[in-house]
Amino acid sequence: MFLKALRIDMILNMLEKKTLLSGVKPTGRPHIGNYFGAMKQFADLQDGYDCLFMIADYHALNFIQNREEMHDNIFDLALDYLAIGLDPKTSVIFRQSDVSAHTELAWIFDTITTMPYLMRAHAFKDAEAKDREISVGTFNYPMLMAADILLYDTDVVPVGQDQKQHVEYARDTAQKFNRIFGETFKLPEPLILGKVSAVPGTDGRKMSKSYGNTIPLFATDEEIEKAVMSIVTDSSGERPENVYTIHALLLEKNDLDALYAENKGQYKKLKEALVEDLKQFIGPMRERRQALEEDREAVLEVLKTGGRIARKRAEKKMDEVREKVGLVFK
Ligand code: ADP
Ligand code: TRP
Repeated sequence: MFLKALRIDMILNMLEKKTLLSGVKPTGRPHIGNYFGAMKQFADLQDGYDCLFMIADYHALNFIQNREEMHDNIFDLALDYLAIGLDPKTSVIFRQSDVSAHTELAWIFDTITTMPYLMRAHAFKDAEAKDREISVGTFNYPMLMAADILLYDTDVVPVGQDQKQHVEYARDTAQKFNRIFGETFKLPEPLILGKVSAVPGTDGRKMSKSYGNTIPLFATDEEIEKAVMSIVTDSSGERPENVYTIHALLLEKNDLDALYAENKGQYKKLKEALVEDLKQFIGPMRERRQALEEDREAVLEVLKTGGRIARKRAEKKMDEVREKVGLVFK
């Protein structure tokens, strides 16, 4: 029954390869920081692992409390995943909320986790430092993420540097559960890749949806031009550092340095060169995404199939967990 739902190539992946899981919150248009910091790695790694790529919609509820917006964002992220080259024939692409085991396991983790431990999370400390009101869901975010990861016996979790602490929370939680209830969960490893640890935004701060300083991953040519021309440059040096750092994502070091040496001090020219290179890079992906958008049914089918497979895998683990904690009567 379980095997029948899986394609033969997926079964081979599961048997031969290590398991990789990652997720993105459907909280708005992805930008090139998200791509180079996280999403690109998904596509690069997918042939080497048994992969699960999740749309973290339960997590997104902490940020988006609007039905239409949530709906659109989920569908958009499914398009983004497919457009960057994730292959639903070999990888499981699914929505977190299609697998209620995520919240069930998060609850069980809550019961073995202390408040002071969660208060050490960067996201919580940031919110506190800014005197922001914090929802219980946000406070609890690391436990839901630990459940996401541990439910699938995940070996590796590719994430940007800022998510490393969350993977450590998942490891700690697995260890704690195993200590209390017996060996159950595998310890996952973070996989931090990406050429640079944080892609700068147009204002020089870290590129982030919440700062409004992004270059969208599927930007139109006009949006690319507008964003690049607005990149802040420091006129004291010979090279516009923010422009250079973004450009470094697209060109080989030798070509990049030759270009910047040739155009020393000519910031406008360098920005124009970046516009051209971004257009070359983004154009084909944007077109692929547009083509997918035409076939809504096919995209929904990918999510449905992915949800079914993820649910089966998660349920198997949950049966073991429920049994270990004493919730099963035979
Ligand atoms: P945002 O700050 O735009 O809301 P998210 O927090 O949703 O981005 O991050 C999604 C993923 O993209 C994470 O794995 C994160 O590490 C990565 N990421 C986000 N911004 C950047 C950036 N500027 N540089 C590199 N990686 C990034
Ligand atoms: N917290 C991640 C982010 O903000 C998204 C995420 C949710 C995730 N669950 C995950 C990433 C599990 C990796 C594994 O980017």
